[in-house]
Amino acid sequence: MAASVIGVIGGSGLYDLPGLVDATWTRVDSPWGTPSDELLIGTIGGNKLVFLPRHGRGHRIPPSEIDYRANIDALKRAGVTDLVSISAVGSYREDLAPGTFVLIDQFVDRTVARASSFFGTGCVGHVGFGHPVSPGLMDRLKVAALAEDIDVRRGGTYVCMEGPQFSTLAESLWYKSAGFDVIGMTNMPEAKLAREAELPYATVAMVTDYDCWHPSEDHVDVASVIKVVYDNADKARRLIARFAHDFPAEHPPCPIGSDRALDHALMTAHDK
Ligand code: ADE
Repeated sequence: MAASVIGVIGGSGLYDLPGLVDATWTRVDSPWGTPSDELLIGTIGGNKLVFLPRHGRGHRIPPSEIDYRANIDALKRAGVTDLVSISAVGSYREDLAPGTFVLIDQFVDRTVARASSFFGTGCVGHVGFGHPVSPGLMDRLKVAALAEDIDVRRGGTYVCMEGPQFSTLAESLWYKSAGFDVIGMTNMPEAKLAREAELPYATVAMVTDYDCWHPSEDHVDVASVIKVVYDNADKARRLIARFAHDFPAEHPPCPIGSDRALDHALMTAHDK
């Protein structure tokens, strides 16, 4: 079993993790493009942790312009074995109020303008993606949340839109009626690429608003979204710090095979 290295992709304000020591910003180049920023590499509770600010420090890169392939590749090159993503989302459920944390277990991809695979002409591959989230990571995130007295719901469907504009009322009502739980702009193709890179992946979605379907919410307003993010940043930091601190130094293979996703995925002959 390989030693665990925890990867975290999150917002700019999240990297000040309690207990993170010997942390240095390290440039990791990728042939796929330019990662959003340097990686913050340190240790927490004896485990190596690698943090990548998804939009770059200072929140400079919009969702459609993030180089998701370079980000996942850089994390893989830094030795990450398990990847957790933290993202702000709008909610389609009255009971998932702003401030609620949701452990996502399904995705719907509505993005239209993003490179979403490491495969292409010359090397054709199709990874299984029926179960996009590693249940082992979800379990550990839930345990960490309980230990920190943080209310987390386990399970939920995240629809990923292209943005950067928020949804129209018609779209919002449509997604709600389809049974989706939350909406965001960043987890696709991140989750798909993590699977292709054989990285077990899980998402902590932080509800920041009710999108525009809700009678109380005429428009999604960035100032209120930012306020909820700041108000909940301490909870998010404690959750990730506890998760990383308690993560086992080694662990058995992913029960859904996300760490072996390429075993049966390649179409192009690889003996030539
Ligand atoms: N991120 C936070 N809130 C959102 C919303 N309502 N729609 C899309 N992305 C979001």
